[in-house]
Order: sequence, then structure tokens, then C-alpha cells
Amino acid sequence: MQQLLSITQHSTSIELNRFVEAVKDNGFFPVKHIHEMPVCTQDVYCFMYLGYKMVAFGMIRGWDTGWEDKVLGIIVHPDCRGKGYGKLMMQTLHTIASIRRLKRVRLHVSEDNLNAIGLYISMGYCISGDRNGRNEMIMYKEIE
Ligand SMILES: CC(C)(COP(=O)(O)OP(=O)(O)OC[C@H]1O[C@@H](n2cnc3c(N)ncnc32)[C@H](O)[C@@H]1OP(=O)(O)O)[C@@H](O)C(=O)NCCC(=O)NCCS
Repeated sequence: MQQLLSITQHSTSIELNRFVEAVKDNGFFPVKHIHEMPVCTQDVYCFMYLGYKMVAFGMIRGWDTGWEDKVLGIIVHPDCRGKGYGKLMMQTLHTIASIRRLKRVRLHVSEDNLNAIGLYISMGYCISGDRNGRNEMIMYKEIE
């Protein structure tokens, strides 16, 4: 049976790290936590579903905290990687960034995360040469 691919945007915030930890510990996406944390936010939190299964989570943060550069983050369910969902989520986030009239977005990535770096470079991100407090590379993309 063909399953519907959908992307929803919630005005509910959740930390990307909580997603990463939950996926590592349990191997599933913690949908439950999203509903437990009904925090109003101007930041962008997107959830991609294939049928009823959550396959990817993406966010752009920085409006709530007043950061000049808004920061993008993404994770695809481990069972669903390499199928184009990451790229589709990134394209969605870039469209939202454009609608919100951002000039550029920033992201942080560990230098051994070659899959993610490959994705970001293929989507027009540049390595800035700067590092964040966790010694991750900082990359930027200009938004048209
Ligand atoms: C990084 C991540 C989001 C990629 O998502 P994905 O759905 O697997 O990626 P896609 O299938 O959309 O692939 C898009 C591009 O990413 C790159 N890529 C993805 N998997 C790759 C792999 N195994 N090897 C090399 N490049 C890869 C390629 O450039 C690919 O483009 P192509 O298919 O045209 O060659 C996913 O691996 C992930 O969730 N990783 C764990 C969380 C994480 O690291 N998040 C980023 C934190 S900065």
C-alpha cells in the first residue's frame, strides 16, 4: 500500500539533542515528548511522517532567543536514512527560511559526520572556518 509523506510544522519546541539521545537509547522517535512540552515558540519545528511513522525532524531556532543568525538542525530516523528524506526536510526548512526573509542560516556539525557534511555541501552550505563551544564546524548557507 502506498503511504502518504507529510510534513507538519508545530509551534511546540523540543531540543534536537533530546531527539538524538532518544533515538540512540530507544531507536525510536520520541513523539510522546513533543506532546508533553507544549511551549509556545516563534522557532520552527518540522516533523516528517511516512504514514504514521515519523521519519525526520528538522528545526530552525533563534527567533525566541534573539540570535542574529538562525540555526538549523536535522535528524532522520536511523531506519530511513539514505532515501532522500534529509534532503527533503532541508529543502522545506530553506523554503520556510525564505518565507521568513532570512538572509542566511547557520548550522553546527562535527567534522567526523561525513554524511551530514556531504548533504550540507550538496545543498550549498559553506564551511566558515569558525568552531562553536563543542568544537563543531560552523557552516552557512545564503538564502535566496
Ligand atoms: C545527516 C542525515 C540528516 C542525512 O539524512 P538522509 O535522509 O540520510 O540523507 P539523504 O538520503 O536525503 O541524502 C542527501 C545527501 O546527503 C549525503 N549523504 C547521505 N547519506 C550519505 C552517506 N551514507 N554517504 C555519503 N553521503 C551521504 C549525500 O550528499 C546525499 O545526496 P545524494 O543522495 O544526491 O548523493 C542523517 O544521516 C542523520 O539523521 N544523521 C544523524 C543526525 C545528524 O547527524 N544530524 C546532523 C547534525 S549536524
